[in-house]
Amino acid sequence: MSSIPPPVSDMPVLKLLNVESAYGPIKAIRGISLQVRRGEIGAVLGSNGAGKTTILKTISGIIDPRKGSIEFKGQDITAQDPSHIVQQGLSHVPEGREVFPLLSVHDNLLMGAYTRSDSDQVARDMETVYTYFPILKERRLQDAGLLSGGQQQMLAISRALMAKPDLILLDEPSLGLSPKLTKEIFEIVVRINRERGTTILLVEQNANMALNASDYGYVLENGRIVMEDTCARLREKEDIKEFYLGLKEEGVREERRWKKKKNWR
Ligand SMILES: Nc1ncnc2c1ncn2[C@@H]1O[C@H](COP(=O)(O)OP(=O)(O)OP(=O)(O)O)[C@@H](O)[C@H]1O
Ligand SMILES: [Mg+2]
Repeated sequence: MSSIPPPVSDMPVLKLLNVESAYGPIKAIRGISLQVRRGEIGAVLGSNGAGKTTILKTISGIIDPRKGSIEFKGQDITAQDPSHIVQQGLSHVPEGREVFPLLSVHDNLLMGAYTRSDSDQVARDMETVYTYFPILKERRLQDAGLLSGGQQQMLAISRALMAKPDLILLDEPSLGLSPKLTKEIFEIVVRINRERGTTILLVEQNANMALNASDYGYVLENGRIVMEDTCARLREKEDIKEFYLGLKEEGVREERRWKKKKNWR
């Protein structure tokens, strides 16, 4: 893994154009256009059922989109096989982590490197990954299924790193974790981005954490993007404060909610 991260550039690593995905008759996402530039952390914010997981599954090839196109590093990857997409340098940390419970921590990490043939470098990268999450080194011989939820999240992120990806998709890293652990995980995610230059697209319900950690954000409602901006600017928007950060001016909630609904559509 390179220790000199490339700077954030205007070149998009990932570009979605008018993507639509459905489960049978249920359209889960519609007209999704977004991009993540090289070296940045992008975030998609949305509540339960908004379509966050569907966006990530569509990018990594688990779901084929009905419409639209997806470009990764300038190449069209729309509806390609997930294993092919991983080989291009795109790793997906799924919702609920999905570590291999009966394999040790060490073997889970090796599974992350299965696309690689540089075994000396794989061993070195494993040591690097352990510096981000020292608890995993302590537990390296233990079955992954015996780790706590937070430790499994650390392992899932580490396993993704072992593929040496250019882009990591991160599905709700805060899910089921305490505020303290969520904060720790986000700090490491930012560190990974800053130190290695790994581009990251994360999806979150925890808008507070996501907006603080990310550079650029999209707000997703009912399968559509209703707002996008730099996270610094999104944090200042009244609607975001009110609906996603739980902050509001006393006495004006109903009126503002109604006004905002009108504006977003
Ligand atoms: N396998 C499936 N079959 C049918 N409908 C599905 C399936 N998976 C998701 N959906 C529907 O698609 C929509 C988007 O779901 P998705 O899982 O992408 O949302 P999400 O934003 O990730 O939600 P959460 O925050 O709860 O994880 C929802 O209406 C959901 O019910
Ligand atoms: Mg989800």
